[in-house]
Amino acid sequence: MAESMNDKNTYRLYINGEWVDSVSGETFPSDNPAKPKQILGIFQMGNKEDVGKAAEAAEGAFEKWSETPAPKRGSILLRTAQLLRENKERLAREMTMEMGKVLAESRGDVQEAIDVTEYMAGEGRRLFGFTTPSELRKKFSMTVRLPIGVCGLITPWNFPMAIPAWKVMTALICGNTVIFKPSSDTPLLATRLVETLEHAGLPKGVLNMVTGSGEDAGMSLVRHEKVGAISFTGHKDTGAAILKEAGLKRVGLEMGGKNGIIVMDDADLNLALDGVIWGGYGTTGQRCTAASRVIVHEKIKDEFERMLIDGIRKLKLGDGLDSETNVGPLINEAAQEKSARYAEIGKKEGAKLLIGGEIPKMEGFYFEPTLFTDCTTDMRIAQEEIFGPIVSLISVKNFHEAIEAINSVEYGLSSAIYTRDIGRAFEAISRIEAGLTYVNSSTIGSEIHLPFGGVKHSGIGAREAGIEGIDEFSETKTVYIDYSGKLQRAQIDLE
Ligand code: UN1
Repeated sequence: MAESMNDKNTYRLYINGEWVDSVSGETFPSDNPAKPKQILGIFQMGNKEDVGKAAEAAEGAFEKWSETPAPKRGSILLRTAQLLRENKERLAREMTMEMGKVLAESRGDVQEAIDVTEYMAGEGRRLFGFTTPSELRKKFSMTVRLPIGVCGLITPWNFPMAIPAWKVMTALICGNTVIFKPSSDTPLLATRLVETLEHAGLPKGVLNMVTGSGEDAGMSLVRHEKVGAISFTGHKDTGAAILKEAGLKRVGLEMGGKNGIIVMDDADLNLALDGVIWGGYGTTGQRCTAASRVIVHEKIKDEFERMLIDGIRKLKLGDGLDSETNVGPLINEAAQEKSARYAEIGKKEGAKLLIGGEIPKMEGFYFEPTLFTDCTTDMRIAQEEIFGPIVSLISVKNFHEAIEAINSVEYGLSSAIYTRDIGRAFEAISRIEAGLTYVNSSTIGSEIHLPFGGVKHSGIGAREAGIEGIDEFSETKTVYIDYSGKLQRAQIDLE
């Protein structure tokens, strides 16, 4: 039996380098959304007291970890990446069982975790500050990066390894210690990530994991006085609640999207078709970056609709472990009901249902890939994040209307335009209100060495991954060294 489990075959919390039961002894199951009767594990319902213990451990480990040379911290990450790579297939299979996405996408998720871990391992030999000349003689100026302290990381289930890795690896390489509160829908994959870091030799207390509910464990972490920064990815309402409760902590929020793809009349329609199908129905529409709106030039609307219907008809719903499956189940029953509710809303609002719209008669939390057309920008299905396989098509007369339509939502995470006109592509890049714009490619597919994040209600400024991810998890200190041997007054002693 692995140490991460107790004698009741129940997974445990990880606090101060030890796998422990929760204070309350309460537990919850994690199931397979393709076969809800299959329980993958029982997990601890950690609460405020468990978070308190984790905070003490993280605070206790901070001094030593932050003083460990960053290249040395990096070598632990490199070892972690190696272990993840060795176990990639097993982890991907477990991921498909725990959250339902098709196996190829689960492999991609684990790969993204490996990539960010390697990248951040390399950051251990960079963590660049900068130097710049002083305005005074014999005075030297530079910046250095310092850790923040204890970071609280709250992660979603849709990328059970990649998103936790974005946050955990970045926080660790910067010299912070961590309390990790994963989603209650994917605690098994979170446990696997923590086990891997443990096996790679991460010292005790540096990373702690408390599974449990968002309201109790999550919010206790947000409110805890020893926690200096919170990084959250998830629903915007939770993000707003976190912002209210966090007090004067540093807060990074990555929230949802209502991402649009513009398809202009000069686009390569086969390319656009692939982009819409992948963006709209990949991961069953459960990505923050999913394409849930298609904004089509009216000249090609009928033709593109026909192409989409044909493409959607070919998608095979099923268990993600089955190699023929294109679209897996939704994460849980509530998500399935949400998609069904929005399909009804769409019909009532007067949008035209072209295909899908129903819960299919099969075991598991499935929903048919669904396409509405004749949508207007004010409809709820064209405004609200559904996080399911439902796409709304809006037709426009010209490029100007397309830009207005794509910007007509409160969100601004990802976006795309299909056109052969290079001038229009550049104009779209500057006029679309979003943190990411893809040209002739779908709304999904970000890479870990470039920043990721959104504008408007998709985020509050912070970017994750790449060099900007380092900004989220470090403090910049500005240093002046005056070696003139006399008092030099800045802005006054100008000669
Ligand atoms: C998310 O949807 O929550 O670009 C993250 C992508 C992935 C990350 C998505 N690399 O879709």
